[in-house]
Amino acid sequence: MYKIRDAKTSDNVQVCNVLRRSILEVCASDYNEKSVIDDWLSNKTEDNVSQWIESDSTYSVVCINKYDDILGFGLASLKGEILLMYLVPEALFKGNGKLMLERIEKRLSNEGISEIYTISSITAKAFYERNGFIKNGDPQLVGTIKGDFPLLKRIAPSKPLKPDTPR
Ligand SMILES: CC(C)(COP(=O)(O)OP(=O)(O)OC[C@H]1O[C@@H](n2cnc3c(N)ncnc32)[C@H](O)[C@@H]1OP(=O)(O)O)[C@@H](O)C(=O)NCCC(=O)NCCS
Repeated sequence: MYKIRDAKTSDNVQVCNVLRRSILEVCASDYNEKSVIDDWLSNKTEDNVSQWIESDSTYSVVCINKYDDILGFGLASLKGEILLMYLVPEALFKGNGKLMLERIEKRLSNEGISEIYTISSITAKAFYERNGFIKNGDPQLVGTIKGDFPLLKRIAPSKPLKPDTPR
């Protein structure tokens, strides 16, 4: 019923809406200051989302339902950092986060990456831990609470062999 596909630039309006809804409706209750949420929302614009999707140094995916509505977005740098991983409430806890992460991990593995890292929110920490991430440093303050968690996962790189490589 849900599918994951590569993101395209024209997804930017829906993706921007997903990011903003997820921050307001999924994350906000884990944080205690309005200014933190305002900061979090401040770069979630349609133009920024276009640039993030188009960039040669990133890979991004969307989660869609059977009507092609976008309900989730994941973005990683090709150097191995998960930059964004967001679902709207109605798409949570159905395996969609895991599917987005698996697709991103596969792409990073194909890029020869062996360590994936991220700074997780309070909200997403359990998700990353369920999916094999471990602590990669001390939590950082977000406003007045510890709200950013550096995490790391080791994966097997599987950079494709060049066609003329003996094997
Ligand atoms: C990160 C995020 C996308 C993960 O989404 P998710 O729905 O947890 O991920 P999945 O789709 O893989 O969830 C499936 C899991 O939920 C579990 N689950 C089902 N119902 C649940 C419930 N009521 N409560 C908790 N877990 C539940 C399932 O058992 C399954 O676990 P498994 O993988 O061990 O089988 C989501 O938490 C999110 O959008 N968070 C807000 C945005 C955010 O903070 N992003 C990070 C920015 S730094």
